[in-house]
Amino acid sequence: MTTEAKTSRVSGFHKKTPRERLDFVADFAGLDGDTVAHLADMGNLDPHLADHLIENVIATMSIPVGIATNMRVDGADVLIPMATEESSVVAAVCNAARQCYDSGGFTTSMSDAAMIAQVQLVGVSDPHHARLRILERRDEIKAICDACDPVLVRLGGGFRDVEVRIVDAPGGAMVVTHLIVDTRDAMGANAVNSMAEALAPHAAAWTGGRVYLRILSNYADRRLARARATWTCDAIGGPEVRDGIVSAYHFAAADPYRAATHNKGIMNGISAVVLATGNDTRAVEAGAHAYAARDGRYSSLTRWEVTADGDLAGSIEVPMAVGLIGGATKLHPTARANLKILGATTADRLARIIAAVGLAQNFSALKALATTGIQKGHMALHARNIAMMAGAAGAEVDAVARILVERGTVRVDVAEAELKRLRG
Ligand code: MEV
Repeated sequence: MTTEAKTSRVSGFHKKTPRERLDFVADFAGLDGDTVAHLADMGNLDPHLADHLIENVIATMSIPVGIATNMRVDGADVLIPMATEESSVVAAVCNAARQCYDSGGFTTSMSDAAMIAQVQLVGVSDPHHARLRILERRDEIKAICDACDPVLVRLGGGFRDVEVRIVDAPGGAMVVTHLIVDTRDAMGANAVNSMAEALAPHAAAWTGGRVYLRILSNYADRRLARARATWTCDAIGGPEVRDGIVSAYHFAAADPYRAATHNKGIMNGISAVVLATGNDTRAVEAGAHAYAARDGRYSSLTRWEVTADGDLAGSIEVPMAVGLIGGATKLHPTARANLKILGATTADRLARIIAAVGLAQNFSALKALATTGIQKGHMALHARNIAMMAGAAGAEVDAVARILVERGTVRVDVAEAELKRLRG
């Protein structure tokens, strides 16, 4: 018997409705009725909106939104929505924030809130001369850029500066123009990309070079969010805990293998708020990691020191290209609701709160790692997931999870056996 080979070449797939696409996929992948019904339920996202946010939509995927409590940022208490699939991430922020609440919580600030767009020119015979030819036209460049987005200009944003770098690339020198643009409450990708595209033919004419790329840089080092907080030595359990945290930081500062994990923990917090507010997690992640390597070696995004009083001082500085308008931020109803909960009325405030969350997350991870180890807390939360995977429901979840933790074996087979025993 021969079976017809399945093909992923589907003509007009994008023109079908989500349900038609789902039926095709169900047939292709052999999905059963329950799975199809599950995928067809788009939850609290309007199917029409989902179908227009991205291409070829068949379903939506829900991620839990948890609220980080105890956060005080620049003297104001805030509730912080965090969208994450990872257990212990929200609890970590709550715990860190509780331990520095009485010492004032988080103090934040922001550099300029500017994005960078790049225009790449190749084949320029006199790159240094060409660099000056571009810089001399600052006023003309400003006019070209600002004409792309009069609304942004009316809101006080727009072109701020132009810089030209000569990049020593494998194929020869490139003349790379940077447009520095204040995008106000927008993340700004569209605004700066349009400006780079508008400038490109002029830059080619001024330099005799050939333009290739015209796109923003996610290394948003003109849009740095900063946060700092002090944890008293008493509040965190004494000098040994404090010194353990500082030593954990020293490890990350000196070793890229550790720094990657250290910063991943920070991004657990940062990305969860970025996602909850409908912002671009990949843009923020790319910027954070590029910034972590700014000195030529990948290192920690945070710093931990001991104050003159013997307390623990933590600080973070990280590119934070987030906005309140545009894209999913404005369209996604859950993102809108989360922004309302957060109460951030400017992109600047949102960016600063997110930096504070990153610092809080790092505090909790380092404290756990430097003391009891991460597995104790993780396993307690993970045990609940394992219990549910074994089929536990309602009160059974906590009951099975507790037994798994007590026995020190958080495994599905053990959970199944315990569930069977509980049910008699
Ligand atoms: C786990 O998602 C994050 C941590 O590994 C972070 C860290 O090691 O600092 C716990």
